Amino acid sequence: MRVSGRLRVPGDKSISHRALMFAALGDGVSRIEGLLPSADVHSTAGMLRALGVDVPAVTSDAISVRGVGLRGLRASAAPLDGGNSGTTTRLMAGILAASPFASRVIGDASLSKRPMRRVAQPLTAMGARFEFEQGDGLPMTIHGGALQGITWRSEAASAQVKSAILLAGLVAGVPVEVHEPAATRDHSERMLRGRGIDVRSEGTTVSLVPGPALRSLDARVPADPSSATFFAALAALASSGEIEIEGVCTNPTRTGAFIVLERMGARLGWEDVRDEGGESVATLVAAPRRLVGTVIEPAEVPSLIDELPMLACVAARAAGETRVTGAAELRVKESDRISTVVRNLVAVGADAEELPDGFVVRGGDRPLAGRVVTHGDHRIAMAFGVLGALPGNQIEIDDPDCVAVSYPTFWSDLSRVRA
Ligand code: S3P
Repeated sequence: MRVSGRLRVPGDKSISHRALMFAALGDGVSRIEGLLPSADVHSTAGMLRALGVDVPAVTSDAISVRGVGLRGLRASAAPLDGGNSGTTTRLMAGILAASPFASRVIGDASLSKRPMRRVAQPLTAMGARFEFEQGDGLPMTIHGGALQGITWRSEAASAQVKSAILLAGLVAGVPVEVHEPAATRDHSERMLRGRGIDVRSEGTTVSLVPGPALRSLDARVPADPSSATFFAALAALASSGEIEIEGVCTNPTRTGAFIVLERMGARLGWEDVRDEGGESVATLVAAPRRLVGTVIEPAEVPSLIDELPMLACVAARAAGETRVTGAAELRVKESDRISTVVRNLVAVGADAEELPDGFVVRGGDRPLAGRVVTHGDHRIAMAFGVLGALPGNQIEIDDPDCVAVSYPTFWSDLSRVRA
């Protein structure tokens, strides 16, 4: 199969959530361009609206948000709905823990099963009160108010937990320090610094000294490297041609999948490298070459955690074995991604095996055929969508529409680059 074309994948999901939250908490009008108009980001916008912020409809065109200031949110009479979005729910938990009212937070079936204790624990230690109705999932009620500063040692390498604590410190006006077991995406830190807050990073420790206000800032959201990975993988697996993906965020905490694809043999190049609003961006040019299996080390996992479903599918087409360990966090994503990926690979005829904290895939070139059960997980649908786009494979996705969570135009972009 030949691939060709130039595309811009939608705005980065992590940065879109944060851009809306920081604009809402800012002390003036922030203009944001290139937001990701997807279901997860609509969940953040909806939650902020319910808390009294006038957030216009989210589109990738520039929108303006008038901030209400760090202490301007108002209680919502209705429950706050996180939808499918862990980032919305966990980051907003930090903000709500420091806001002097009670908020009941709900979510869809997948989000309701995901662990919230990891944010509830540090936020409770700071002085908020969390009530759970079932286990440590949603619904939960957060009783927020005055908090005290904290030094927290996170058990999981989680940017969501780190960001929740930073946001609680910011809104409550108390200093916080977070020690992580491994460095995770640092968008919150960069964006807070850009808005005048004293945030310091040293190794895997981040500390925040609050300020009186969060400055409003105009921002452009770079293209999402997690979404770009699907097209880098498609190009790597094609037989000829190349795909160019514009304006991709190349923050080093996010680019692990590109490093692994190159290690497997893919030809990737970066052009037009530049800085945009505190993040580096570049055009990614991806082309095919014979792929071989690789070992993905635990230390690499945080930089490619969301890309592991795609890398597993690439491994099914690479010569030899690919082994991933130290990725137990995959079990608490939108689905249990270790089991979802491995079961679906086996269902379509590939050779894959679960490990407690990862998986092993042995690649081959047999045609793959069968039905993929996504459990509503957008990244499972897109990873197997790429595998299904290869000649000879016949893969049916049970719920193709679930891509709306992070990449609503995925299927049309996919058909555009297949020559
Ligand atoms: C995200 C952090 C990661 C990632 C998620 C987005 C963020 O989750 O998997 O898709 O925007 O902070 P964890 O922090 O739970 O690892």
